[in-house]
Amino acid sequence: MSHFFKSLKSSQLRNVKHSMTSMLGIALFGWALIAGPTVAFVPIGGGVSTHVSITGTALLQKVTETCRAVAEAAGHEFKSTGSSPEELVQACLGPTATGEVSGAKFHSALQEIYRQNGLVDRDFVNSAPHHFNSEAFLQGRALITEGMVAIKANIREENFQAARETLGRVLHTLQDFYSHSNWVELGYTEPYINLIRRDLPLENLTDVNTATCSDCASGTCPNPILPNIQKKKKLTSGYMGIFSSSKPKGKCSHGGAADLTSTAVPRGGLNKDERRSDNVALHNAAVNAATAASLQLLDDIRLAAGDNDFLRMMGIARSSVVCFVIDTTGSMSDDIDEAREVVYEIIDSKKGTQDEPSEYILVPFNDPSFGPMIRTTDPNKMKREISKLKADGGGDIPEMCLSGLQLALTGAPASSHIYVFTDATAKDIALKDTIVALIRSTKSTVSFFMTGASRRRRRSLRADPFNDYKDLALASGGQAIQVSKKQLPQATDVILDTSTSALVTVLQRARNPGKQETFPFILDESLQNITIYITGTSITFTLTNPASVSQSNTEASGKLGTIQTVGNLRRVRLNADKQTGTWQININSNQPYTLKVTGQSTITFIYDFVESFKGPHPGFAVLSGRPQAGQPATLMLSVMGRKGPSSLTVSNIGLVTSGPGTVTSGTMTDMGGGDILVTVDEVPEGEFVVILKGTDKVSNTEFQRQSTTQMSVSKVNIQAVVDSNAEPGKAFKLPFSVITQGPGGQYHISARNDRNFPMSYPSSLTLTTGKYTNDTLTITPPASTPSGTDVTLTVEAKSSSGADSNYIVLRLSVVTKITDFVQPLCEVVSVLADDCPQDVSQCGPFQWELSANLTDGNGTGIERISLQQGDGTLSYTSLSAPIIQANYNASCCSQIVEFVAVDKVGNVGKCYQSIVRSGGPPALTLSLPLWLCLLVSAFVMRP
Ligand SMILES: *[C@@H]1O[C@H](CO)[C@@H](O)[C@H](O)[C@H]1NC(C)=O
Ligand SMILES: *[C@@H]1O[C@H](CO)[C@@H](O)[C@H](O)[C@H]1NC(C)=O
Repeated sequence: MSHFFKSLKSSQLRNVKHSMTSMLGIALFGWALIAGPTVAFVPIGGGVSTHVSITGTALLQKVTETCRAVAEAAGHEFKSTGSSPEELVQACLGPTATGEVSGAKFHSALQEIYRQNGLVDRDFVNSAPHHFNSEAFLQGRALITEGMVAIKANIREENFQAARETLGRVLHTLQDFYSHSNWVELGYTEPYINLIRRDLPLENLTDVNTATCSDCASGTCPNPILPNIQKKKKLTSGYMGIFSSSKPKGKCSHGGAADLTSTAVPRGGLNKDERRSDNVALHNAAVNAATAASLQLLDDIRLAAGDNDFLRMMGIARSSVVCFVIDTTGSMSDDIDEAREVVYEIIDSKKGTQDEPSEYILVPFNDPSFGPMIRTTDPNKMKREISKLKADGGGDIPEMCLSGLQLALTGAPASSHIYVFTDATAKDIALKDTIVALIRSTKSTVSFFMTGASRRRRRSLRADPFNDYKDLALASGGQAIQVSKKQLPQATDVILDTSTSALVTVLQRARNPGKQETFPFILDESLQNITIYITGTSITFTLTNPASVSQSNTEASGKLGTIQTVGNLRRVRLNADKQTGTWQININSNQPYTLKVTGQSTITFIYDFVESFKGPHPGFAVLSGRPQAGQPATLMLSVMGRKGPSSLTVSNIGLVTSGPGTVTSGTMTDMGGGDILVTVDEVPEGEFVVILKGTDKVSNTEFQRQSTTQMSVSKVNIQAVVDSNAEPGKAFKLPFSVITQGPGGQYHISARNDRNFPMSYPSSLTLTTGKYTNDTLTITPPASTPSGTDVTLTVEAKSSSGADSNYIVLRLSVVTKITDFVQPLCEVVSVLADDCPQDVSQCGPFQWELSANLTDGNGTGIERISLQQGDGTLSYTSLSAPIIQANYNASCCSQIVEFVAVDKVGNVGKCYQSIVRSGGPPALTLSLPLWLCLLVSAFVMRP
């Protein structure tokens, strides 16, 4: 069981609700790890010394350190206006670029790590190794070190989400060691480094027959460890029994009500999960050691990954990503030319700004082929790749559009804007439900540029052959833009509008059929580059600002903005001097239409539908599928302000249906740090989105934001947990269960994965209302799968009538079992610092040097050597030789050098040397290294 996670008592939650709802609007606290006394501490968000707070402290510190190192290496000063994640992101990305940047990605990354950390208490509640319970030290360490291998492999393959998820789980186990073992009782204040080093032994483990604890009748004795265990410095941990009270004779218990062994002699418990009056010192020592241990692990990951990839994993990257899915069949050459123009324009015009894309993704599709997905951070590579695309083959037939889109949705970071260029309907339309599931789970928006509709229309009796694309655009909050090939260049401004780092949606509505309607929306002071998009045919509209100034669709350039019309798209760019307050747009059309109001602002939010889980340490888990019908829906929302969450107040959060636009407000519970738990008792029928209103305290103006991804509830529910990694060439079994609260009967099961790995699973299940039906899916990654590959798996269950369905989206990492846990070795051969003056202030003109031998023994071989500390120059011989010689030269003013050698599986070896003198004679004895040095140079000079 866990842990520092103190359980959330329902009485505490009630108190929070009362105190919150009694306020008008809730004030959000800063990103403080310790929330105010009225806020009980809870699994996610605030609290005192929980897994989340320990993880958060370590992550923010390591990210700050890395950002500082990157800034300094580039010759910038690192300056943050505050410690909130949004200010940290701005400071981290700030020095190199102008403009605003949203903290949303960093927030999401932190949340992913926290939630996986918390889920160890749900998914592995009864597993001793996951919590270092019951003296399962070797198995616990194996989980940590194997997890670290997986994280490093995932980062190498740029599968950052998979890396974050494993990181969250591994940190939980590592942190539990300090709470559940007697490490701090033994007097240690530093972390036990051997837990993250598989090559070092775990020493002094107590064997199963040795008693470890004295009896503690009260259940709360500060240190129950037996004196001889203490004296011999033996390591032990508490036994935990959720279902049974038995434990080996004389052993410590974990303790607490959930642990049935705690009432068996020796009674009491060893855990330091909670701070009580009797254990303050030990609890604090455990928290400090767990925090330091988390930092050590993060440092190892950072060194193995390199600073840039470490920050990318943490979501510290400009949020704009260019993602194009392009039809390359014969008729598409004009469209490809235009897509290329747009890519060049984005790259060239946004260079050096916060809007410069951090990543480029390109997926071509044709018939019958699609892909491969090209993914790069290098703008020149993107230019080359898109220039290579040629229209070829296919013909007047539907193409593999959705297969290409599937690759883009699973490969792009969450919340990306994906653009599809095509002139034909999809042949692989059977994928539509999978695409909708992926859209819902990634929250990415998909927009379509559909050209040549008239050519295709003749082939079909249906009114609009592109209806499927329109459905997908609508479901994701994207646009379905229908233009002629000639008009396409005028329509692609939409793409430039969205390639920005701080895009927000103020309002989005769809009407089918159309009718005359007035839509009000609030524009706050922080919004810039406000753009209104309307898609549809035969539309007239009038826009009115808070001062009642109006502009109609016939005025291309008016008092409020400029209007561009191309194909079925109208794009209104408001003038920069817009008024804040409530605006209105009156739209009149009897045809279907969509309306979207966007702008750029750092005031934004992220959200997830969650479900609470019970057990000794309850918490919240993100729902992978649609929320359950007939019950309240719960959301976890994080709000970001211009200067952290304390710079805004939230007045209302609700769900709004995309049809009639009915708003259902939720009850808000402040979780601290900008996190809000929202409960909506009556979930609306049909598709809905999330809407949020509040006040920006910086400008004292009201704001509104809404989510783009449509969601709806379902009576069906699928449950599955990926609890380990897959191995190349080996079948991986995934148990799953399906339940429905609707009518029973046959449910169709379909599963897809984005790598086309072979799978087997039942094609249908017979369900009984309210009862779980279990089965298993087997997926087999080919033996040639590179370690670190991740697979996105979508499983759907649909009633035989098709009336109800749900899905689950899972990520599975394929990791090769490795046996190389040996760090590269660094042996300092010589240090020549004789010239450095005693008086450091005289160091200017003098130099020192160091040489070292680097080896990886029988390991996988050194792949990278990099300088971490020191202003000198580092050079080294060929990496392919068994012994690599490294030479370092620096000014005597730079007295410390640290460099690291990373092998092919991410084991990190360090070289460290300081020439700081402790006064008196030089601290280094030079004779032996000098002698070795001469020997080495003689060896090197031999022909
Ligand atoms: C193991 O025990 C020895 C002697 O009792 C002690 O010196 C050593 O520090 C202990 N090691 C650990 C990791 O506790
Ligand atoms: C967005 O607004 C800013 C400030 O008003 C302006 O400098 C910038 O050029 C605008 N960007 C675009 C793409 O119009």
